[in-house]
Parts: sequence; structure tokens; C-alpha cells
Amino acid sequence: TEAALQALKQAIENSYRITVLSGAGMSTESGIPDFRSPGGIWEDEAAMQAMTHSFWRDCPEQFWPKFKAVFMNPVYLNAKPNAGHRALALMEAQGREVTVLTQNVDGLHREAGNSRVYEMHGSIRSAVCPDCRTRYDLDYVLAQDVPRCSFISMKGVACEAILQPDVVLFEQEVRYLGEALRAVRTCDLLLVLGTSLTVYPVADLPRYLNRDRAKLVIINLEETDEDGRADLVIHGKVGEVLERVMG
Ligand code: NAD
Ligand code: APR
Repeated sequence: TEAALQALKQAIENSYRITVLSGAGMSTESGIPDFRSPGGIWEDEAAMQAMTHSFWRDCPEQFWPKFKAVFMNPVYLNAKPNAGHRALALMEAQGREVTVLTQNVDGLHREAGNSRVYEMHGSIRSAVCPDCRTRYDLDYVLAQDVPRCSFISMKGVACEAILQPDVVLFEQEVRYLGEALRAVRTCDLLLVLGTSLTVYPVADLPRYLNRDRAKLVIINLEETDEDGRADLVIHGKVGEVLERVMG
């Protein structure tokens, strides 16, 4: 509604330190399906079961084609930032301190121009050797069906270990939890954008908001468990709503 959009505009204008908690709903307007809506990525049970650390460890040759099919397909690789990503970059460009905590692995927040982005579930833009920790970029990973490390030691010994994607797989820990907690504790405004808040520990972050100094705003197509605690809830498309508000 107009009143809700006005309230959101006010909240953003009155805030200096804005923390964003984004999920897959942030990137659906860039063409990338989310995980749990109809048509979401986890509708394919086999895909979800394959995204585990133990599957990569035990069957890396089978893991990689499945991982590439889910996360390194043309939809992900050709995706561009949408109006929602651009609005968050504008908030920072206007001089605010914006910290983006994202569960997304598509790299679109950084591509849109935000400079403080914590990719808590990692990123598809690189892969790492589990033995010598050498990192490789996306082009290197795409060039081989099963990407292996090409590091040669001083003694001429080839590493050749099979790389792990830089994405946090099931059974692995999320990253930057300390930085995320601090960003939520110290902000004036927490914007929760396009996440079902069903995956922990990220789903717990809004609970750490300092309610006597900060506002909680949720923009999501469907209800979340935090809606009751929010100062403002807008059930709409993140890109459309933020574009209306940021102009
Ligand atoms: P978790 O147990 O909280 O799993 C979170 C969600 O992952 C659950 O809601 C369930 O839908 C699904 N899930 C859980 N176990 C699964 C499994 N064995 N196979 C497939 N799906 C499973 O956390 P976790 O499983 O320990 O994962 C740790 C973190 O890694 C989570 O925050 C998860 O979101 C993240 N992760 C990220 C990606 C990615 O694509 N970025 C993929 C997998 C997991
Ligand atoms: N605008 C607003 N909300 C949207 C939009 C949009 N354009 N598109 C989808 N949504 C909402 C959906 O209604 C849903 O509630 O975004 C939410 C996306 O939720 P999920 O599909 O569960 O994605 P996410 O919350 O990011 O999942 C968290 O689960 O498996 C793990 O690692 C995976 O990072 C992922 C994590």
C-alpha cells in the first residue's frame, strides 16, 4: 500500500547504518529460481540431496556434474543484478553504511556495487583445493567436467586434488556469523529481503536486533516466522518495492 511504501521510505531516510539480510527471493527477478517456492531449486529432491559435503567427499566425480547443473547453469551464469540489488547499491552510494548479509551464492550484490557484502553461504564464483587451498576462478572450474587442482610443488609433485566449490554445502558451517551478529546488533535498520527464514543459523539473526534503537522491516512474497515481530512487513517483490521507494 502507499502508506507502507511511505513508511519504508521514511525508515530508510532516517537510517544511517542499514543491515540487509537477503535470500534467494532477492534474485528471482534476475531469473534465478529460489529454493522453496513452487518451481524452486529444491523441488528436485535429488539436487538437494547431492548438495552435501559428504557427497562431494565420497563421490566427487558424480558431485560436480550435479553441482554444475544446479548452480553453474546459464540461468545463474547470465543473471544480472535487478532493481532490488541496484537500490541497495544506491543506499550505499548516497553515503550510508550498508552491510549486506546474503545467503545467495550468485554474487549479484557485489556486482551491483555494494562494497560490504558477507556471502554467508559462499559463492559460485570460485572453487578451492581441499589440500593446498589454492583458489580457482569460475572460468577454470567451467573448463573441466571435474575440476582438479593444477598446483605443482617445488619438487615437481602435482597436487591434482578435486576442487570443492566455494559454496557452503549441507553439513558445513555458514560463514561470517560473527560479523553478521555485529552488523545486526549495531544497525539502525534491518531489511530482511526475499528469504523464507527457514534455514539456521541465518534465520535466527533478526532476533539479535536491538529493538529500542533499530527497526525491523521484512519484504517477502510470503509470510515468515518473524513477521509478527517486524515494525513493517510488505508482501511484495523486493525489486519492485525498493525501486518504488528509492526512485
Ligand atoms: P540445515 O540442516 O539448517 O539445512 C537447511 C536446509 O537445508 C533445511 O531446511 C533443508 O531444507 C535442507 N537440508 C538439510 N539437510 C540437507 C541435506 N542433507 N541435503 C539437502 N538438503 C538438506 O543446515 P545444513 O544442512 O547443515 O547446511 C548448512 C548451511 O549450508 C545451511 O545454512 C544451508 O542453507 C547452507 N547450504 C547452502 C547451499 C547453497 O546452495 N548456498 C546449499 C546447501 C546448504
Ligand atoms: N520478492 C520478494 N520475495 C520473494 C521474491 C521476490 N521477487 N521471490 C521469492 N520470494 C520469497 C519466497 O516467497 C520465499 O519466501 O523469497 C523466499 C525465498 O525463500 P527460499 O526459497 O527458502 O530461499 P532462502 O530463504 O534464500 O533459502 C535459504 O536454504 O538450502 C538453503 O542454502 C540454501 O541459501 C539457501 C537457504
